[in-house]
Amino acid sequence: MDREPPGAKWLGAPVTRRSVLAGVGAVAAFLAVDLGAVAYANNWIAPRTLSRQTFIDGFQTVFGRHPGFRRNHAKGMAVTGLFDSNGNGAELSSAAVFAAGRTSVTGRFSLTGGDPSVADTPSAARGLALAFGFPGPDQWRSANLSLPVFPDSSPQGFYDRLLASKIVAATGKPDPDAMARFNTAHPETVAAMAIIKKTPPTSGFADSTFSSLNTFFFVNDAGTRTPVRWAFVPQQSALPPKPAGDNALFNSVVRQLRTGPLRWKLHLTVGQPSDPVDDATQPWPSDRRVIDAGTLSLIAAQTEAPGNARDVNFDPLVLPDGIEPSGDPLLSARSSVYAASYRLRSGETASPSAVQVDEVTP
Ligand code: HEM
Repeated sequence: MDREPPGAKWLGAPVTRRSVLAGVGAVAAFLAVDLGAVAYANNWIAPRTLSRQTFIDGFQTVFGRHPGFRRNHAKGMAVTGLFDSNGNGAELSSAAVFAAGRTSVTGRFSLTGGDPSVADTPSAARGLALAFGFPGPDQWRSANLSLPVFPDSSPQGFYDRLLASKIVAATGKPDPDAMARFNTAHPETVAAMAIIKKTPPTSGFADSTFSSLNTFFFVNDAGTRTPVRWAFVPQQSALPPKPAGDNALFNSVVRQLRTGPLRWKLHLTVGQPSDPVDDATQPWPSDRRVIDAGTLSLIAAQTEAPGNARDVNFDPLVLPDGIEPSGDPLLSARSSVYAASYRLRSGETASPSAVQVDEVTP
């Protein structure tokens, strides 16, 4: 077992990493060259009580073992596209992606949960992971969710909720006593879930708003640091899922992409000094200034395969100069656990993805 380095104080420290996916591995497994290098040096997320291995074991207890797949957001599909920056984001950040111009994008749509062949359900949180300028020196990676706030404020809360929500085979539902105990211990999650319930899921991926949820600090050329939460705001409705089926949500967005690019505006919400920056369960007031930084266009979908987004670790701490992490404890935990998940899956042979883009009927 890894040991915590003496005096390790990396949680929440500003980190800029430019790990690059250099290798395309064998047909099934691939070469893990993309670990979350900083976080991976330290196994402990909460000293001596919660390690990245605890999370991996937790995901496998709840969802089973699915070699070769992500331990969370296991069901997914790769996408490629472009980001057209209008230059407005440069007011907040010196990152190259916000200078006026175009940047290539590698991404992945996903559903939350560790089962790669789970049936699509509208209520499952949807993910859109994005790597801008990948695999270049100024790349920016993010993994965004279709929720207004995150249910947990701490890694321990996430872990406790994961275990409490394990489905009991006899009922097909989580154990109500375990959920009740969890809710008593985590009022912050009860409050966040009340906010989440007020924003019912949209009909598909194409009309979902995908948000950072965690706060980041944007740093401009003058060195000014501004707390920012971002959101990708859809510019289209979604095609109705047809026919209903296990891949209804994925199939619908594949069909829609065949008709032309799908677009999202990148909105940067500017935090005020009174806004919480270390707690993703808490929304910011709705009157905060929003900067429209440009348009993300997703152009094509690909079945998960060697060398595409399947093999990218969308570690939220892979940031360019001009974007820095906040002290939100979820961020360093995510970096560490994503790296552990990535390291495992890269050494395993996966069965084919449940989402086969070429097999989606018109
Ligand atoms: C302690 C909290 C969290 C833990 C332990 C966790 C764990 C994980 C793991 C293990 C993966 C798979 C990584 C891989 O194999 O590449 C993953 C993927 C993902 N997570 Fe989290 N997560 C956490 C919080 C969050 C938050 C706050 C967000 C949203 C803003 C988020 C959004 C996503 C998305 C969108 C993906 C899919 C990324 C992809 O397509 O590669 N997660 N998460």
